[in-house]
Amino acid sequence: MRIGIPREGRERLVAATPATVAQLRKLGYDVVVEQGAGECASYPDEAYADAGASVVDARAVWESDVVTAVRAPSPERLASLAEGTTLVAMLAPHSEPALVEALRERGVTAIALDAVPRISRAQSIDVLSTLANVAGYRAVIEAAEEYSGMFTGQVTAAGKTAPANVFVIGAGVAGLAAIGAAGSLGAQVRAFDVRPEVGEQIESMGAQFVRLEAAQQEVSADGYARELTAEQERATMDLYAAETARADIVITTALVRGSAPTTITADMVAAMRPGSVIVDLAASGGGNCELTVPGEKVVTANGVTILGYTDLTSRMARHTSQLFGTNVVNLLRLLTPERDGRLTLDLEDPVQRGMTVTRAGELLWPPPPVAVSAAQSPAAQVDPAAQARATHEAAQRRRRRRSVLYGAGAALAFVLLALSPAATVSHLTVFALAVIVGFYVINNVAHALHTPLMSQTNAISGIILVGALLQLGSADLLVSAIAFVAASVASINIFGGFLVTYRMLGMFRKDG
Ligand SMILES: NC(=O)c1ccc[n+]([C@@H]2O[C@H](COP(=O)([O-])OP(=O)(O)OC[C@H]3O[C@@H](n4cnc5c(N)ncnc54)[C@H](O)[C@@H]3O)[C@@H](O)[C@H]2O)c1
Repeated sequence: MRIGIPREGRERLVAATPATVAQLRKLGYDVVVEQGAGECASYPDEAYADAGASVVDARAVWESDVVTAVRAPSPERLASLAEGTTLVAMLAPHSEPALVEALRERGVTAIALDAVPRISRAQSIDVLSTLANVAGYRAVIEAAEEYSGMFTGQVTAAGKTAPANVFVIGAGVAGLAAIGAAGSLGAQVRAFDVRPEVGEQIESMGAQFVRLEAAQQEVSADGYARELTAEQERATMDLYAAETARADIVITTALVRGSAPTTITADMVAAMRPGSVIVDLAASGGGNCELTVPGEKVVTANGVTILGYTDLTSRMARHTSQLFGTNVVNLLRLLTPERDGRLTLDLEDPVQRGMTVTRAGELLWPPPPVAVSAAQSPAAQVDPAAQARATHEAAQRRRRRRSVLYGAGAALAFVLLALSPAATVSHLTVFALAVIVGFYVINNVAHALHTPLMSQTNAISGIILVGALLQLGSADLLVSAIAFVAASVASINIFGGFLVTYRMLGMFRKDG
């Protein structure tokens, strides 16, 4: 079969890159690419030809057995599609009923890339995640461009500058990408989401999760936020007012099933400092900020810049196309089980069924609902009040356990000090101080730096091991015994480290 890759209309992205063309060819397909298709994404025609594609005119592309595009075709293109063609593109079937009907009428098999069920197995073909991830990253770049300060704090001979305060609203795919990008530029990042389960993800990206019990929803059964109650709405609005007033940059990404709730009112914008920047990633859905103009940059009377750009992914056309193209290859791998260049649609598979809008004149939209991976069994869904009580009791138990441990440690240290000779007392003092300093230092190391920290502790264990081995042969039985214990404990860290690394590497192996 032949796959055609058209040049997009107003879109800078392209549905295949030279690298993904090579992968499509490995699946047994012939690939034709329209002249200039990759031009805006910095992929020249020659690169496609080198990868094994034929560079052809538009007509030859649209006459292919399978046409793979980024956006839905124009009405003229649609009218030229032959019966039996398979069209793979973002078709927005939920909001474009006329397009769906036209595809059915023409006898086209239409597969919507933006209708991938959000289950773990389908993640590798989920173009919406790809686009959200790029948009989150690009939002930070746009904010940095508009912001007249530096993201990272500076200490120079000419004085100090404070790091930028970034506040991210909504920690879905885009929000987490924005947190990562802003943090890596050196900003101090705070983030909020109504879904409490994302708190850990926010913190693992090195940002501070702004907790607010009154605004937090119970752990979502399907991984998505719900409409807020009036009380939650009031609580979030108070929180946003306080956070936006102290932030230099606000990146807002809040969506509830595709629609954008208001998170930033005109009054909040009026209270922000001049020079602050808001990037509204929900602009295409109407915007989270009351003053957002979709597609535009607005500067308010008090000097706040509001970016409502809706083409953030196209501003990084090269890499977005590369990731988008890889999503398409992953889909075609699923649709070509024999790797023989023949597309086979299996409607028993919930992923393929969820994306299929029409099949050869048959309307298949909307698909039956798919249970998403985040869903819990009814038994696992608990009453939020009971959950809050359980969390509180667990915290109390942890505090009690910690107090007992501290008490026991202090008593043991006291006994050791009382029984030890004077020379040992100074060693024990140094040891105790090292434990205290180590505790506070390690507790304050960002999550992102835990892996290098582990390497450091392995190196320290190596030193302990060498010291212990040297003392093992000592004539003093007590010294040998302590050396033996030290060697054993240090070995646990070293060999344990190897085992953990081996397990982690295993997770990246395709065959396992
Ligand atoms: N294939 C897959 O398995 C797959 C792919 C992508 C995302 N997901 C999951 O789907 C879920 C949603 O991700 P998404 O990026 O599409 O989210 P989204 O674009 O639907 O929403 C963005 C974020 O805004 C938050 N939000 C909504 N209203 C808010 C408010 N008033 N204040 C603050 N925050 C608010 C939501 O909780 C969400 O985190 C996540 O759990 C994600 O991990 C799964």
